Amino acid sequence: MYVYLNKGLVRGSEAAVSVFDHGFLYGDGVYETMRVYDDVVFMVDEHLARLYRSASMIGLTVPLDNDGIKSSIYETLEANSLRNAYVRLTLSRGYGPPGLDPDLCNEPTFVIIAEQMRNYPREFYEDGIRIIIATTRRNPVGAINPQIKSLNFLNNILAKIEAKREGAYEAVMLNVSGHIAEGTVSNVFFFRDNVLYTPSVACGILDGITRGLVLDIAEREGIAVQEGEFTPDDIYGASEVFVTNTTMEVMPVSGVDDVKYKVGDMGKLLRSIYRKEVVSYVKNAAGRGPALWGYE
Ligand code: PDD
Repeated sequence: MYVYLNKGLVRGSEAAVSVFDHGFLYGDGVYETMRVYDDVVFMVDEHLARLYRSASMIGLTVPLDNDGIKSSIYETLEANSLRNAYVRLTLSRGYGPPGLDPDLCNEPTFVIIAEQMRNYPREFYEDGIRIIIATTRRNPVGAINPQIKSLNFLNNILAKIEAKREGAYEAVMLNVSGHIAEGTVSNVFFFRDNVLYTPSVACGILDGITRGLVLDIAEREGIAVQEGEFTPDDIYGASEVFVTNTTMEVMPVSGVDDVKYKVGDMGKLLRSIYRKEVVSYVKNAAGRGPALWGYE
């Protein structure tokens, strides 16, 4: 396995980052997760735009431009002979003596890990996953803004620990005002009386790229959508619940705490249109030179 580290590819076994790296010492850095379908990095431009945004929100300069990052991703995929992959791009503050001052680090550390996509169990889509509403609250926007896809993931990990303790797969966190925010690695949607609901970005969430596409699809299909502030009771009273992210796509939920849901038609419809979007994106991108370069 090869990993892209700073300026080029190195063997996975030799891909090491210093113990003085501020990503390791302080969680000081940002990342992106992308999914590659048949050699094409799905919505690569949107993911890279978010990486630049996250980096700029913490005053970190991305050492490569858009095309530079795309070709490093491509090199990493080629070196590992991967066509359907999980790609993680990590950018940390870099190597420097201990201390919080970002100026202690001269150069960021840039890493691309690409692995064969490990598909989720089929039952997750057929039966849905169980989730809980965690007692851990989502970081408030004024503390660590969830729009920064930060390496500092302890907030989400604490909620994930709660989920595991309850035998659930995902945990949804409330914001400090008690409104539904998002999952540990996903955005949440629910459906009731012909309206699709999802927390607004103002609730303090990562504006997921999958969430954005699902909202676009819903609008195109004439489905009534409401983005806003919702309480756990709103979710408990829904007829369908599902979560979204880049690797899970649209994944149905079979239960939230003690409330059970059927895998319903709205989630199925959105999932099937989402899959069609992927197929057409891949087809369009493949006709335009290096397949992973996306398209306008
Ligand atoms: N997670 N909210 C959080 C906190 C996330 O970490 C993610 C993504 C999302 C969904 O974003 P998108 O649709 O752009 O993947 C929402 C990725 C998959 C991860 O942590 O690896």
